[in-house]
Amino acid sequence: MTKPTALVTGGAGFIGSHCCLDLILNGYNVVVIDNFVNSSITAIEQIEHITGGSITVYAIDVADKDAVDAVLAEQPVDVVIHFAAYKAVGDSMNRPLEYYTNNVAGLLNLLNAMGDAGIKHLIFSSSCSIYGDALELPLTEDSPAGPTNPYAQSKWMCEKILVDLCSRFPDWSVTALRYFNPAGAHESGAIGEDPAGIPTNIVPFLTQLAAGRHESVQVFGSDYATPDGTAVRDYIHVMDVVEGHRLALEVGPVPGFRRYNLGTGVGTSVLELIREFETVTGQAIPYQIVERRPGDVPELVASPALAQADLGWTARRTLTDMCRDAWNFQEKHPRGYKDILSLKETS
Ligand code: WQD
Repeated sequence: MTKPTALVTGGAGFIGSHCCLDLILNGYNVVVIDNFVNSSITAIEQIEHITGGSITVYAIDVADKDAVDAVLAEQPVDVVIHFAAYKAVGDSMNRPLEYYTNNVAGLLNLLNAMGDAGIKHLIFSSSCSIYGDALELPLTEDSPAGPTNPYAQSKWMCEKILVDLCSRFPDWSVTALRYFNPAGAHESGAIGEDPAGIPTNIVPFLTQLAAGRHESVQVFGSDYATPDGTAVRDYIHVMDVVEGHRLALEVGPVPGFRRYNLGTGVGTSVLELIREFETVTGQAIPYQIVERRPGDVPELVASPALAQADLGWTARRTLTDMCRDAWNFQEKHPRGYKDILSLKETS
């Protein structure tokens, strides 16, 4: 039987690369589009190394429609999984137009190319940040949206475009997955989270700190109405997140638009996360309490009940698993994928 082919945009990124690994291990052909602005081709090479599989990679931007058209003409794509986007809350406050151009216009470009090629099955990377400052927790998919930053707003706008598309053209099958806070790495430590520049997300900052690349971590705010005053998030293992993607695509294509929370239902404060990292790494993590970060909200915790009911999906890994696996990647590769490249250069 011919293996189904998935096109993964942003497939060299943190979540995208883990998705490619999971798909290959589960019998899919994988084609990747990535502009490598915030990712490394080494992630792809590592996936091929540990699976023995091969990935066809196109170093292009989803903004380049002609290039995307050419990929869809060349490859027998059955489903598209769209990760390629900017994703940092704080960063988006400083450069909103880049976020709208990259995230919203990029999706529109991809949808036009898919429509032209007759490919109408999409799994879309959305975000819990669309809920904003939640009135009630845990958050269900029917909780009101209230984006508080351009990143979240861009994801919410994308969802509304997809709802509209599916309501007018019922032959489209679209599933939006609203991740909470992905963290961790594949257990092999061969791939992991390795953002360009100084990490804006706390988990890669903590793993880099434990690897000696930073002196201390700033805790953004300790005056939230939470048990210890620091903000609470629902951290979810990246392998649980990507398994949710595969289950979502294996249900479809079902006509119409659906959206699911991918979270654990467990909230963890920044200080609790730091303590967990100290336990896992056996190192003290120096921190300073500073002002809140603009665009942040006090608490985001998922109700994962709908994904469990419809997709048969449940997060299986714990915060300890996340911290252990994230640290395993960083301990093996203190400078991230650069180390792996340097090993290759010396071999
Ligand atoms: C987590 C908490 C910060 C850095 C992320 C992704 C976003 C979306 C949701 C998928 C917050 C605090 C952070 C630091 C800190 N995921 N913090 N010091 O903003 O929740 O968003 O998950 O779509 O794409 O970016 O994640 O890791 O930046 O922040 O105190 O140096 O840690 O204030 O409370 P965030 P984050």
